[in-house]
Amino acid sequence: MRIAKVTERISYIGVNDRRTALFENNWPIPYGVSYNSYLIKDQKNVLIDTVEYGSDGDFLCKIEALLEGGKLDYLVVNHMEPDHSGMIRSVLAYYPDLKIIGNAKTFELMQKYYGIPQESFMQVADGQELEIGSTSLKFAFIPWVHWPETMVTLDLADGVLFSCDAFGGYGSLDGGIFDSDYNMDEMFLPEMRRYYSNIVAKYNQMVTRAITKLADVPAKMIAPSHGVVWKENPAKVIGLYADWAASKSEKGVVIAYASMYGNTASLADQIGAKLSTLGIKNIRTYDVSRTNVSYILSDIMRYNGFILGTCAYNTFMHPMMEHLCNEIRIMSPKGKKMGIFGTSGWNGAGAKALAKFAEEAKLEVVAPSVEAFGAPTAEKVNPSLEEFAANFVKAIEV
Ligand code: FEO
Repeated sequence: MRIAKVTERISYIGVNDRRTALFENNWPIPYGVSYNSYLIKDQKNVLIDTVEYGSDGDFLCKIEALLEGGKLDYLVVNHMEPDHSGMIRSVLAYYPDLKIIGNAKTFELMQKYYGIPQESFMQVADGQELEIGSTSLKFAFIPWVHWPETMVTLDLADGVLFSCDAFGGYGSLDGGIFDSDYNMDEMFLPEMRRYYSNIVAKYNQMVTRAITKLADVPAKMIAPSHGVVWKENPAKVIGLYADWAASKSEKGVVIAYASMYGNTASLADQIGAKLSTLGIKNIRTYDVSRTNVSYILSDIMRYNGFILGTCAYNTFMHPMMEHLCNEIRIMSPKGKKMGIFGTSGWNGAGAKALAKFAEEAKLEVVAPSVEAFGAPTAEKVNPSLEEFAANFVKAIEV
């Protein structure tokens, strides 16, 4: 049973999940993920969020051990997604006098998901404070980071901001619980960026709004519900989230292609080589049938250019490219330049489908697109490939 001290009054009682292959049954998590939960001991004892149901058999034992026979007075539900709310019914069954704290939207969702009775619920307002003994908790609503009911909670005495999904990331806590316990560049920061691109990026505007709103909150530590507790350098994670929400990106190009028989793959490599001769140093090329879109999205968020290529497939684009396009549409990247290439036997259907996608998704396409009928031999794709690469490099100059 793992319990760690965040401060003298606050304990970490979260769990690691290394069993789930796909987070949300969609995103690969090779390094696992943590569901963080915290217990504040004061005159009133407060649980901050729970963990995913079934992710840890001794979650309730940790609460029991910390309370030493005492009462659990409150459960604060910052976010209702089941990776954090999954144990609400179990906790309530164990501590039936508990008051569950949330906002009006929280309760609406709680009834839909768990049928929690009204008398167990305590509604709070944005900015409200709740005295728990030696100090108070303060609640701030940050809707759509990443559900409509989402809020954060600040422990005013210790300055710990419980931020739920905000400032979180993939990766289990394999050693300590703090940022200072890890070489953050090694795994957590890349995994945070991937998490952001997969889960949060759609809500960039709301993240910016939330960061602005929380700017005056006197937080000394940020304790999210996934990943490390930011004790040493909370400004770092706020800066990263602010940059990602503002769509700041590095100079570089992601080339993602779908290829059945190697012709589109060959064209992708030719494009990569041309970009390299023109001085582009950050080039990441992915076969969408092999690399999960999760990783491709992370690099699309990271760099300022991306080039999509597909073979024609039943008069449309390849289904795996369609999957990537759908996720790009959801992520809705801003400030990026997009390029298009394709191969086909006779009608250029793949490249046409990509152009239609780009138009509908309001993406800025750098002309011309490159197309090859059959094998993309040099005489077929030049000089359009030269022009394509030169224009693209010019477009992503910063
Ligand atoms: Fe980690 Fe939106 O739940």
